[in-house]
Amino acid sequence: MAQKSIGIIMNGATGRMGYRQHLVRSILAIRDEGGVELSTGERVHVQPLLVGRRESTLADLADKHDIADYTTDLDAALADPRWEIYADFLVTKARAAALRKVIAAGKAIFTEKPTAESLEEALELAALARDAGVKNGVVHDKLYLPGLQKLKRLIDSGFFGRILSVRGEFGYWVFEGDWQPAQRPSWNYRAEDGGGIVVDMFPHWDYVLENLFGRIESVYARAVTHIPTRFDESGQAYRATADDAAYAVFELAGGVIAQLNSSWTVRVDRKELVEFQVDGTHGSAVAGLFGCKVQPRNVTPKPVWNPDLPETHDYDQDWIGIPDNDALINGFKAQWEQYIRHVVEDAPHTYDLLAGARGVRLAEAGLESSRTGARIALPELTLPEHAAAQR
Ligand SMILES: NC(=O)c1ccc[n+]([C@@H]2O[C@H](COP(=O)([O-])OP(=O)(O)OC[C@H]3O[C@@H](n4cnc5c(N)ncnc54)[C@H](O)[C@@H]3O)[C@@H](O)[C@H]2O)c1
Repeated sequence: MAQKSIGIIMNGATGRMGYRQHLVRSILAIRDEGGVELSTGERVHVQPLLVGRRESTLADLADKHDIADYTTDLDAALADPRWEIYADFLVTKARAAALRKVIAAGKAIFTEKPTAESLEEALELAALARDAGVKNGVVHDKLYLPGLQKLKRLIDSGFFGRILSVRGEFGYWVFEGDWQPAQRPSWNYRAEDGGGIVVDMFPHWDYVLENLFGRIESVYARAVTHIPTRFDESGQAYRATADDAAYAVFELAGGVIAQLNSSWTVRVDRKELVEFQVDGTHGSAVAGLFGCKVQPRNVTPKPVWNPDLPETHDYDQDWIGIPDNDALINGFKAQWEQYIRHVVEDAPHTYDLLAGARGVRLAEAGLESSRTGARIALPELTLPEHAAAQR
């Protein structure tokens, strides 16, 4: 069989997401498995180029993982035809400027979310990529979570009857950074550096809700900074200017109401760090990252409200676990394989910069709703005819 190799510029490979999810769990895992299999049976090998700002860190990483190429010179990498794909895991604030250069250089793009800091810029990037004929993909990793895959299968099988509502809890306690180091980077808590839980999580909620339940037609949100002072990586106190919790209601096409809490200031009393309960006329389900359980209508108990009597019914027992019928796959690796097939053999890939712009819009609308107290309508989003028209 003929073999092809594809060069991938990995910008921000030393960061949390860049290193763990995109480099180690995706590209290096694909490399070690002998590449991505195409529809023809051919395999495409992957060749990463690590890009960052500190040469010594890149050199250590390259040495540790047996990677031949690294550089601090992004412009040179973009001018080199060996590298076909540019992947971006930079802090959000640095993304749009990098993507503009990449589009001008004519490379295919795969990027973390949010794709930009404003809807205007996100749409402009999508239009520029379209006009330049540059293939583009945006992460949508949560769709591959085994728990959400099980939920999707339940929906597709008609299990729920008519779906009424979704209630989701996402979050955990992120330490303030003084008496215990924080487990997230400090820029996440500074609005001026692209931080905030709305900007971080609403782009995910956009594609998760749309893919599972229907397009989001409106949002009402209240974003709050519960912890006003945090301590950064060097132990210095700083003012948290970004929201660390958001309480939101989304109305979806078809009438489903989704209510999602996102919080870095909540202590976990759930089985997993995210859980969605879906209630339908014929049954309900609770899905997490991995697990999913159901309660069909014919085993639903009939509670009667009586606060004078202690509870004797064990509600946990009314649920049935969904078996793991498939092998676990890493969502980042799965989406990388899908994207590489898109670049190499034009396989379909719907999560592009326009989809990314929808995520940015949801975050922007969520923050606007929080500021004004209004429910914000979200009409269908389309690309401007000319990228320049956005400026
Ligand atoms: N898909 C997901 O589930 C998920 C989860 C967390 C974060 N993210 C996104 O991934 C991106 C990176 O987040 P992270 O948590 O890995 O952050 P991080 O701070 O750990 O890493 C950021 C990277 O950007 C580099 N960088 C920082 N400032 C820069 C600048 N001015 N110019 C160029 N490079 C710069 C850093 O050296 C580092 O390599 C963010 O956009 C974030 O929204 C996605």
